[in-house]
Formats: sequence, structure tokens, C-alpha cells
Amino acid sequence: MGQWWQGGAIYQVYVRSFMDSDGDGVGDLAGITQRLDYLSWLGIDGIWLSPTMPSPNEDWGYDVSDYLGVDPALGTMGDLEDLIAEARPRGMAVLLDLVPNHTSREHPWFQAALRGPDDPHRDLYVWAPPGPGGGPPNNWLAAGGGPAWTLDPSSGQYYLHQFLPAQPDLNWWNPEVGERFDDILRWWFDRGVAGFRIDVAHGLVKDALLRDDPPASEDDHPMAGRHGLRRVYSANRPEVHDIYRRWRRIADSYDPARVLLGETWVFDPHQLAAFYGDGDELHLAFNFSFLFSDFNAPCLARVVRETMGALPEGACPVWTGSNHDVSRLVSRWCAGERSRAGAALVLLCTLPGTVVLYYGDEIGMADVDVPVAEARDRMGLGDPEGQPPRDRARTPMQWEAGPGCGFTSAPRPWLPVGDCLQVNVADQREDPGSLLSLTRRLLSLRRDGMIPTGGRYEEVAVGDRLWVYGVGEATVAVNLSDEGAPVELPDGPLLVSSSPGALEDGVLGPWGAVVVGRPS
Ligand code: NOJ
Repeated sequence: MGQWWQGGAIYQVYVRSFMDSDGDGVGDLAGITQRLDYLSWLGIDGIWLSPTMPSPNEDWGYDVSDYLGVDPALGTMGDLEDLIAEARPRGMAVLLDLVPNHTSREHPWFQAALRGPDDPHRDLYVWAPPGPGGGPPNNWLAAGGGPAWTLDPSSGQYYLHQFLPAQPDLNWWNPEVGERFDDILRWWFDRGVAGFRIDVAHGLVKDALLRDDPPASEDDHPMAGRHGLRRVYSANRPEVHDIYRRWRRIADSYDPARVLLGETWVFDPHQLAAFYGDGDELHLAFNFSFLFSDFNAPCLARVVRETMGALPEGACPVWTGSNHDVSRLVSRWCAGERSRAGAALVLLCTLPGTVVLYYGDEIGMADVDVPVAEARDRMGLGDPEGQPPRDRARTPMQWEAGPGCGFTSAPRPWLPVGDCLQVNVADQREDPGSLLSLTRRLLSLRRDGMIPTGGRYEEVAVGDRLWVYGVGEATVAVNLSDEGAPVELPDGPLLVSSSPGALEDGVLGPWGAVVVGRPS
């Protein structure tokens, strides 16, 4: 029998924004426990928690200062254990976010490393002398666009950081780093954690010779490079696969096996496929080509075709449309038009494989304009390439209409709330034509096998407007345009319609989507 994540529905909870149980304006673990019945009602199999470990929060938990703890702002170890224990009988597993590429500057390992080149912790990080003529050792750039190196004045050496200077990169050439992470994995697996989403999964190993990254070319995917450089030496090294083979052995030694879901920021389908190894590396790997695809039939269908063509036999694809780093799917894919979001949800939930929904996707939450004075994200704001500040996709879950959106009783949540008068869970639960009802129906059909998540993908037709595909014995048709499109469908039962009357007289309405079951 397959494992739960093969074809399962995983739900990303941005912990600080999901549910505030204690009225301090910040979401917390106990709040998630309070909302488990909702997630189980929705049909979720696994919950991925955005970072929960102690952190000075320069990058909201992606700068870990203790890999074995829980950030007190989010709760206690007891709260996390309760959440895991309460999720289990509801048929849901809990995944944590693991950040192995870098630690926080405040982590005791880095603090010790700063004592000087002779400290035994020094080699846990990547250090290098200045380059010829002084300045950074090579041309690698950090996510914000500046040099990926910061000078440690007391030793005259630079340390590497692919993100903020407050996030020094670990040195994965040092076997001791690997051993420490083996222990971290086991520590959490022993506590019932069902797996990890692995941050920067493609980037842990860097070129041992610290060679310069070459310039990006026109053929590169716009998101593949970094500020004009193609990341062939600062990330994407082949040796990263050794790490995942080793972690896979650890994950598979548990019963039930634990799951490894990589943030694989690669744009070549064969490179993506490589993260699955021969069934001996990651179980699941995020597909960013899909997430960043234009929202039209030819582009989306091409990504799916290429992904399916590249993945090894038995590998489970992952489909996602939003996360905490990018604009939400309603705003990015659907140009802010919620009426298009049903098409997105049908695609995400019918393509064979695992779906990862971001909290709020199921109700069509849109980005929220966060005034600069209330911004919380340092990296997003500092990005000279004009990436939208990430705060806009991290605002509180809209549970109900009202001042705190049912998220908090505090007068000021940590980020401003969106328009919960228009968009909220409570109203959509009552409305059979809502996005929430659609998502729930899609997930329940997946569970029942009516939408076969392990089925074979078959491209039936791709036009300017229409995309039709078969998944096992079901057929999906999506109209990704503003005009109605005639469609020929098999004579099976209409299992799902993105909105009432989306299909009429053989014409699929604008942004309409339907799923037709096996003809009897
Ligand atoms: C990817 C995470 O998703 C993002 O939020 C974070 O800033 C970087 N990795 C650095 O950890």
C-alpha cells in the first residue's frame, strides 16, 4: 500500500498567522490544535508547519538558534506534542520545517565559531579569506542581491550567507555537520514528527573550490538565476544527493516511514527528477516551474508534460500554487479575480500526485497590501529586483467577518488582516457554491479514489483557452480564458464543477473547470 503522502493533501500553516489562542496577536501551536477539526473536515492528510524552532526571527524562524526546541512565541514543546497527538486520531500527520542550509547568527555553534579560526566549531561554517585585491572571496550573491559574504573583522575572514548576514551557511563538506543533522532528524522523528519540509534543499552543498558563478543566459528560467548569475557553484552541486540518500535511510527506518519534502528551487525537470534519486532520496520535491508558470493552458500543460516525462517511475509529483515566499495564487495566477481561483484549485487537486495547499488557498484569500510601516519581512523589502514583499502573503487566516477575522482577539494582529467581510471560512462553509466547498469536494473525491491521485496523466487537448487531461479514468477540463470554450467530454458523471453551471450545452464558461468520472 502507498504511504499517506503519495497522493495526499498537505496543508501549509504559516504558524504566526493561522490562529492566535492567547490573544497576543500572533498565531501559535495551541491555535492550530483548536482548528484541527476544520482541517480534518476539509480533508487534509498532512500539516506542514512553517518554522517552529527558537529563532531571533530575523527571517521569521528561517534563522534557527536551537534545532531541538520550540519558539516560545509559538508555544511549548508540550503544545507541539499535543498538536501531533490531536492530529493523529483525525488522520493527519504533522511535518516540521527544517532549515539545514544555515543557522541563525545567534546559534551557539556560530557564536563559538566567531571565537576564531582555532575554535572547533569554526569549520561548521563556510569561511574564506578575502578575494584577490580584498573584498569578498568570490562573486556569489545573497538572496537580497548583495554579496553572499560578510567580513568577520576580528579574524579578517569572510563567512558565507546565501540569505541575510544573520543566516550563516553551514559547511556541508564537514562530516560533523551531517552527523549533527542526523541526530536532529532522529530527535524529531522520535517525537512523532511525520517528516520535514527541507528549506533550500537544492543548496546545502557549495562548490568546494568556491568558483565564481557564471552569468545567467537568456535561456535560463527567470527565477533560476540570482541577480544575473546562474547558480551552478553556489548551489545545485551534485554532492547534495548524498545527503538525501542518507536522510532517506533514516526516514525509512521509522514505522510509519517519515517523509522528506524538499524545497527544490530548480527549473530543469531533469534536475528536479534527480532529487527523487532511484527512489532513495526525497519522497517529494516542490515543482517551482509549475508555481511560477503563467496561468494559461499552453504554459501550464507544458510544465506538467515535461515534469511527467522527467520523473522516474514511481516518483510522486507535487503541485502547489502559493506559499509564504510568493504572492498568493488569487493575486498572482488569477490577477486578483477570485472567480478564476476555482480553475486553479481544480488543477491543483486533480493533477496526479500530492497537492500542497497554502492556508487560505481554499477560500481564495488574496494578497494584502501591508503598509511599509507595518512590514515585518526584511528580505522581501530589501529585494532590489522588486519581488513583492512577502508579508502580503503571510497575513492572518480569515476565519470569519469581524475585526480580528476570528484569528485573534488582540486589537492589533502581528500583520494586518485582509478583507474578511468578503472572504472568510464561516460564510463559505455555508455556501455550496463557494471555493471552500469546491476544495472540500475535490479532496473528498481524491480520498475516495474517484479522482485517482496515483493515476496516469494523459494530455487530451491543449489549446489557447482549454486544457483537457485524463487522470486514470477521470477527465478534467479547464478553461483558462475570459471566453467560453466548446469542449467534448466523455459521457461520465459530472463529479465536480468549479461553479454552478460552469459547463452548459457543451461550452465551458470563462475560467470554468469540471471533472468527469468514468463513463458507466
Ligand atoms: C526559503 C524559505 O521559504 C524562505 O522563507 C526563507 O527566507 C529562505 N529559504 C531562507 O531560509
